[in-house]
Amino acid sequence: MTGATGQLGKALLNKLKGSDNKVRITSRRKPEGIEDFKWIYSDLLSGEGIDEAVKDAEVIIHAATSPVKNSRSIEVSGFEMLLSKLHHIKHFIYPSIVGIEEIPLNYYKLKFEAEELLKNSSIPYSIVRATQFHGFVEHLLMSNPLLKRYVIPGSMKFQSVDVGEFANHLIDLIDSGPQGRADDFGGPEIMTLREMTELKIKINNETNKVLSMPLPGKLFKSFFDGKNTNFTQKSGRITFEEYLRNKKVTK
Ligand SMILES: NC(=O)c1ccc[n+]([C@@H]2O[C@H](COP(=O)([O-])OP(=O)(O)OC[C@H]3O[C@@H](n4cnc5c(N)ncnc54)[C@H](OP(=O)(O)O)[C@@H]3O)[C@@H](O)[C@H]2O)c1
Repeated sequence: MTGATGQLGKALLNKLKGSDNKVRITSRRKPEGIEDFKWIYSDLLSGEGIDEAVKDAEVIIHAATSPVKNSRSIEVSGFEMLLSKLHHIKHFIYPSIVGIEEIPLNYYKLKFEAEELLKNSSIPYSIVRATQFHGFVEHLLMSNPLLKRYVIPGSMKFQSVDVGEFANHLIDLIDSGPQGRADDFGGPEIMTLREMTELKIKINNETNKVLSMPLPGKLFKSFFDGKNTNFTQKSGRITFEEYLRNKKVTK
C-alpha cells in the first residue's frame, strides 16, 4: 500500500491492522503505530525505494498522491514508472475521483491520464472513483472563518463520503479481484457547501456566520452543477452530520 501517511492511507492502515495479509506500506514520512506492517521509504519522484516496495507483492492499493506539488511528475510520470515495475502484480487498486473528466482542474486531468495509463497497461486493475472525503471538504473549505464569517462559494455541491468506508471498500476488492473500472463510491447525500457549513456551525455551537459568494468560471460551475457527484451511487452510509458529531465526541 502506497501513501501510508495520507487521509486514505491512515484509514487503510486502521482497517488492515490484524489482517491475514502480509502488508507492506510506503511513504516518505514514517507513520506512527505501524507494528503490524513493514514500512519502506519510497519516493515516486526520485524512484527511491520502489523496487524494494513492489518486490514479490501481489496486490497494490495505490493511495500515494500529490495534488499540488510536482503533481505531473507524481501522478503521471512517477505513476508510469511504478507501473513499469509491476509485471508480476495480480491486482492494482487505484482510487480515483468522481467526475474527473468533467471538472477543469489540473490535478483531475492528471488523475484521468493515470487512469488511461493503467487501462492501457497489461496489469489487472480496479479503478474506483470516490467522491470527496468528509474531512477533505471540511478542512479545505470551512477551516478558516474570517471576521467570524465563513466566506464560501455556498452553491458548490458535494456528496462527501467517509474515508473509512471507502478504505473498507478498497480492502474488500482484494478478495473480489480485478474489476476494471468499478462502480463509483459516493457518500449518502448531496448537499450544498452552505448547508454543510451551517451544519458545522450548529453542531459545534459556533457563533460564526456564513457569507456565500458566487464565483465565476467553468471550474466553479462544474461544482455548482454537481459534476463531482453521482446520485446513483450512494454507497457510503455515514453522513457528513454523523462525521461531525463523531469527531466532536472523540475529540
Ligand atoms: N481527498 C479526497 O477527498 C479524495 C476523494 C476521492 C479520491 N481521493 C483519492 O484518494 C487517494 C489518496 O488521497 P488522500 O486524500 O488520502 O491523499 P493525501 O492525504 O494527500 O496523502 C497523500 C499520500 O501520498 C504520499 N506522497 C506524497 N508525495 C509522495 C511522493 N513523492 N512519493 C511517495 N509518496 C508520496 C504522502 O506521504 P509522504 O508525504 O509521507 O510521502 C501521503 O501518504 C488519491 O488517489 C486521491 O485522488 C481522494
